[in-house]
Parts: sequence; C-alpha cells; structure tokens
Amino acid sequence: MKILVIGSGGREHALAWRLSQPEHIEKVYVAPGNGGTQVGKLENLPITDFEELASFVQTEQIALTVVGPEAPLAAGIVDFFSEKGLPIFGPRKAAAQLESSKDYAKAFMFRHHIPTAEYATFSDAKKAHDYLNQHPAPIVIKADGLAAGKGVIVAMTDEQAHQAVDDMLEGNSMGQAGSRVVIEEFLEGEEASFIVLSDGKNILPLATSQDHKRLKDHDEGPNTGGMGAYSPAPIVSDTLHRRIMKEVIEPSIQGMAKDGLPYTGFLYAGLMIGPGDDEHRSIKVLEFNCRMGDPETQPIMMRIKNDFSKVLCLACNGKLNEAHIEWDPRTALGVVLAAPGYPEKPVTGQVITHLPSPNEHLCVFYAGTKLNENKELISSGGRVLCVTALGDSVESTRHAVYQAIADIHFPDCQYRTDIAWRALKRS
Ligand code: AMP
Ligand code: GLY
Repeated sequence: MKILVIGSGGREHALAWRLSQPEHIEKVYVAPGNGGTQVGKLENLPITDFEELASFVQTEQIALTVVGPEAPLAAGIVDFFSEKGLPIFGPRKAAAQLESSKDYAKAFMFRHHIPTAEYATFSDAKKAHDYLNQHPAPIVIKADGLAAGKGVIVAMTDEQAHQAVDDMLEGNSMGQAGSRVVIEEFLEGEEASFIVLSDGKNILPLATSQDHKRLKDHDEGPNTGGMGAYSPAPIVSDTLHRRIMKEVIEPSIQGMAKDGLPYTGFLYAGLMIGPGDDEHRSIKVLEFNCRMGDPETQPIMMRIKNDFSKVLCLACNGKLNEAHIEWDPRTALGVVLAAPGYPEKPVTGQVITHLPSPNEHLCVFYAGTKLNENKELISSGGRVLCVTALGDSVESTRHAVYQAIADIHFPDCQYRTDIAWRALKRS
C-alpha cells in the first residue's frame, strides 16, 4: 500500500515516519516534503497543485492521502479529492472554517454551548476601540483569518490592545486575515492540546500533549508555532479527560453534524484549564485547529505502537468505531531547534551536521530543511528540527533530548532549555 502525506513540516515527517513502519506499506510520498522525508520508504514529491496531486494519486494508485497543514484544507483539497473518489483524511473546506475563521469558530461554540471566552467581532476600528474602552486589559486580540500562529496578541495593557486593533484593522499588519478581529476575554490557567480523529460521527482521541508557544524559557518572548511538546500531558487526569470529551469534543462533532458539515479529520482543541479541583475547574476552548499540532505530533507519533494507516483507513470509511490505537505508556518529548532570527526573520542556508542516528528511543524530525547537491542538510525555514525521545520519565526523556541536542552542529540555533517544566513541577 502507498500513502501520500501533504505538507513539509516536522509534523509531516513524524506522521510519514510512523505510517511507513508496517511491512505492508510500500511507500510514503510527502508533498512537497523536506530534507528529512526522503529516506527509506519516504520520498518527496515536489507538487502542491491539487490537480497534479490528484492525478499522481490516480496513476500511482495511492490508497490514502493525509493532510498535515491547514492551508490546503482551507483551500478545499478534501472537497477536490473526494469529488474524484480519492480517499483522503481531513475536513472539507466548509468544516475547516473552525480554524480558518476565528469568528466562525466562536459563533459555532456559542451556538452549541461549547465553553469558550466571551468575545466580540469587529471590522470597524472605531467600534473595536469603543469596545476596548469598555473592556480594559488584559484582553486578547485575534486576527479572524489564518495567520500562521502570529495572529494573536495577548494585550497586557490598554495601549497594547488599541495598538493591536490599529495594526490589524488600519495598518493591515496581518493582511486579509486581519481585516476582521475577534476581541476576546483574557483567560488564565494552564494550556493543553487535545486532539481527536473523527469520521463525522465516531471519535477517537489521540494521547494528550502540551506545547510551548513562547520562544524563550519561562514562557517569555514572542509567540511561535510551538517550541517543544510532550505527551502525555499530566494535567489531563482521567476526570478531565472525561469532561473534555463530554463538554468540548462530543458537542463539537455533534454540532458540526447538526450544522450540516460533518467533521472528518483531525480536530485539535487548544484548551485553557482553570484552577481548582478536576470536577469543577473551568475548561475553555482557546482555539480549534483542523489538523494535528506541530510539534505535538512528533511526541504523539513516537508513542503509537500499532499500524496507524489502518486507523486512518477506517476513519476514511466511516468506521472509526472499529479502530484502536495502542499507546506506549512512556513519555515522549520533543524540543524544537529554530533558526536564528525566528520567528520574525529566520536566517536560512546553514549547514547542519552531527545529527544523532535515530533509534527506537530517539528520532530527529526535520522541518525547515533541504538537502543540497552534496547531500548536506541545509536549514530552509524557521523551525528546523525537532529532537524527540521516548523514555521512562519526563526527567530522563528530557535529559536524553538535551544530550542529543548538545552534539548537533547548527550555528546559533535557538531552543528552549525548559521544555516540560510544568510536568516536572507536577511530579
Ligand atoms: P490561539 O492561536 O487562539 O491558540 O492563541 C495563541 C496563544 O495565545 C494561545 O496558545 C494562548 O497562549 C494565548 N491565548 C489565546 N487566547 C487567549 C485567551 N482568551 N486568554 C489568554 N491567552 C490566550
Ligand atoms: N503547536 C500548535 C499548533 O500546531 O497550532
């Protein structure tokens, strides 16, 4: 069986790596892929055009296509493939609005009584400023559209809030994505990523995980796409898991079906979990993503023990109720190595050497990388590598990751040295 993974990040490398493992998998194409997705059964496919991708899938008789990032989903790749009868796992364009429009997602959550922060949406700057005058900081300003993780300003002062509105609505700082803004109540608590698969009706949760959005240690510096993640997230106790399924995930999948847009694909709920005991603490949705997280996918994939392609094929056929994932109970943890200058202006083109050889307990997943003519690994993006390990405890796993990082030659790369600090504090 042959599989196609769409995307080029660390998430897609990890997904393709895991999918390629069973013996019956002949080949996993990654389109367009990166410097890491061209070893063993993995092969890059330098195509992004939907028509060309679909004809490649038909000619090569690819049995399953999985979509990694949000952009092709929001552009309707699932609708396009489905009309041609090609099996693809992901939400249709209309359902992907859960991520591609924050205003759509907020209205959806209010309509279906899914807990989330209070909000208002504006395209008129004066009205937005008036609203801010009545709702003092801290407050959160979000570009309505897709902004590659850069569309959210958590304003700690009124001045920052007004500035963010001016930047997005008048200064066009986020382009079309920021021509409407959602202004949202500031929530306090601990964040967790809760990702499930759905076939429109049945739901299969993935293992829990926690990301680190800020660039620097102690959660300081600008927001990024994510600087490191681990799984499981100890904050999600059995009680919280049950409540998240009942209060957030089930009403979301049922709500989409009721709205006539059955949700197929990965659904990622970014949650803010308030203080208190697990039966009573608040659980609120910060955002929905219509895909898996990056870098959450990297540790999650390391923990899957059975054939993930079977799970995805069942999901494509509406039989997710028959699927099962066997989880390695140990901890997986990944630390992202980012280019100097990331996230504003990543410096690319650096040669990276001395990578550890992968083994059962350690994998380096590649993101913004390519191979040059001499087969050297060259950085070509903001987030470049995610060094991921599997181990018996958070502490020992983290130690193994940082030891591996110490050997890698990647001049001036940036990485956090405190990934999983929350989990360690808890234990
Ligand atoms: P989002 O892309 O909506 O998840 O926002 C990116 C990050 O901004 C989140 O991971 C949070 O750290 C922060 N954030 C978003 N919404 C809120 C909120 N209502 N209150 C506090 N922090 C928020
Ligand atoms: N790591 C957060 C995201 O993928 O959106």
